[in-house]
Parts: sequence; structure tokens; C-alpha cells
Amino acid sequence: MSMFVLLVSLTSSTQLCWSQPLRTCWLDPHTVRRPCFKNKCYCSKLTADCSSNAGNLSFIPKLTDSVIFLNFSNNSLAKIDGVDFFANVSTRLHFLDLYNNGLTYIAPGSFRRFTKLTKLLIGGNKLNYSTLPLGAVVNVPTLEALDIACGGLGPVPSVFFYQHAMPLLARLELSYNDIRHLDMNVFQPLQSLHGLLLWNKLGELTPSYLPSLSHLGLHENALVDFPDT
Ligand SMILES: *[C@@H]1O[C@H](CO)[C@@H](O)[C@H](O)[C@H]1NC(C)=O
Ligand SMILES: *[C@@H]1O[C@H](CO)[C@@H](O)[C@H](O)[C@H]1NC(C)=O
Ligand SMILES: *[C@@H]1O[C@H](CO)[C@@H](O)[C@H](O)[C@H]1NC(C)=O
Ligand SMILES: *[C@@H]1O[C@H](CO)[C@@H](O)[C@H](O)[C@H]1NC(C)=O
Ligand SMILES: *[C@@H]1O[C@H](CO)[C@@H](O)[C@H](O)[C@H]1NC(C)=O
Repeated sequence: MSMFVLLVSLTSSTQLCWSQPLRTCWLDPHTVRRPCFKNKCYCSKLTADCSSNAGNLSFIPKLTDSVIFLNFSNNSLAKIDGVDFFANVSTRLHFLDLYNNGLTYIAPGSFRRFTKLTKLLIGGNKLNYSTLPLGAVVNVPTLEALDIACGGLGPVPSVFFYQHAMPLLARLELSYNDIRHLDMNVFQPLQSLHGLLLWNKLGELTPSYLPSLSHLGLHENALVDFPDT
């Protein structure tokens, strides 16, 4: 724990329950985007934004193979029933945003086709530890960042990450769930974990030695005392 850098931020208490725009050097925000499916999706060479269609888009239209970033957030999907849901997307997709879709179910195996997926944003849904599609993500060993904030998730079951080993996972966002107590040992299987965000309602935290962790965000928790290790 000596390596932890505790970040205390001064942001207001407004909940950040929308996926934050990705900022990467190769995604130029000024790139021209054109409608690529009936004014429901807007594409550039590398990106497809099919977000915010309020239930009017329930499938992913055929996208060109060069698209490696797909934003399918805010579409009231509720369920991803079939494993071919992503059949119209390149298997080389890097970033997938499924935030705020009211998802309660994702068919196991839905992510299996992706061989390059590094970042999955799946917060703001109604998934629980049984329905979170991490079993499928394990077959995507490339995953480096996972955002499951704002999902009403309770305390992380002790075996959860043991069942779903993600060897390259460096950043895990679990803020704004309902995690009131947490034993940091649950993160032991995540050997590359570098940053962990837990802005939550934590009242009780059991520490654990996580050698790769260098950034722990614990803002807005109810912790009175940070435990010594
Ligand atoms: C996806 O689109 C939504 C709404 O259109 C936006 O708020 C969000 O930031 C986008 N996600 C990313 C990762 O850019
Ligand atoms: C979500 O979609 C609705 C309907 O299209 C839109 O009014 C709202 O602004 C969207 N929210 C975000 C954060 O983009
Ligand atoms: C959804 O479709 C209806 C009917 O075509 C349309 O009036 C509405 O504006 C659409 N909503 C969005 C967010 O695209
Ligand atoms: C693929 O996209 C086409 C239209 O572009 C659509 O008709 C078809 O249903 C889509 N397939 C899936 C599996 O979503
Ligand atoms: C998880 O969610 C599913 C679908 O909403 C539900 O059927 C199941 O009972 C939930 N499991 C738990 C442990 O809450």
C-alpha cells in the first residue's frame, strides 16, 4: 500500500454517469464525420458513433472494416440477446462504448469475436455480477481498461476476478455503484492493475498488497480512517 497515491479531487458531487469522451492521440475530435446509417450513425474512417437513438436503433448496421471505435451508448437496448449482435463490426474493434443502455443481459460469448478489444465501457446499465459479460471478456485477453461505473453493483464477490482473469487489465472504473465494503484482496488476480477508481459509498475497506497499483481514487467515500498496512 505504500505505493498508493491517493487522489483527492475537488470536483463537485455531481455523478459522472455518462461515458467520458475518449482522448487519444489518434482520435482527432475535429475529424469530419458523415452519416453512415440513416442519420443514426456518424462515421469517420476509424470511428462510428451510433449513440443516443433513444430505442430507434436496436442492431448494429454494417460498418466498414476500418472502424475500430464504436459508440453504441444511450440506445435503450435492454438486452443483447444473440451472439451475432456484433457481427457487423470488425473483429479488430479496439474501443466499445455500451454505456446507458439499460442492459440487464448480454448473451455469453458476444465479445468473443473481438481479438483486439482494449477498452470496454459498459457502465450505467443494470447488470449484476452474474450477468456481467466478463466470462466472454476473458476470451478477449487484450482488455486493458474496463469501466463498469454507475451500475448499482454491490460489494465485489471474493471469487469474482479469480473467475475472470484479465491479465492486461490496467484500469478498472467501479465508481458510483453501491459498494459499501470492499476487501482489496478481490483484485489480486488482476496482475497488471495500475489504476482503480472507487468513488463510492465505501464505509469499510480491507487493504491488500497490490504491487502494480499506483493510482487509487477513493473520493466521496464514507471512510473515516484509511487502514494502515
Ligand atoms: C458516446 O456518445 C455519448 C452520447 O452521444 C457521449 O456522451 C459519450 O462521451 C461518447 N463516448 C465516448 C467514449 O466518446
Ligand atoms: C441520450 O439520448 C437522448 C435521446 O436521443 C438525448 O436526448 C440525450 O441527450 C442523450 N444523452 C447523452 C448524454 O448524450
Ligand atoms: C425516433 O424515431 C421517431 C419516429 O421516427 C422520431 O420521431 C424520433 O425523433 C427518433 N428519436 C431519436 C432520438 O432519434
Ligand atoms: C447488419 O447490418 C444490416 C444493415 O446494414 C442489417 O440489415 C442486419 O440486420 C445487420 N446484422 C446484424 C446481425 O445486426
Ligand atoms: C441478475 O440479473 C438478472 C437479470 O436481471 C436476474 O435474473 C438475476 O436474478 C440477478 N441476479 C442477482 C444475484 O441479483
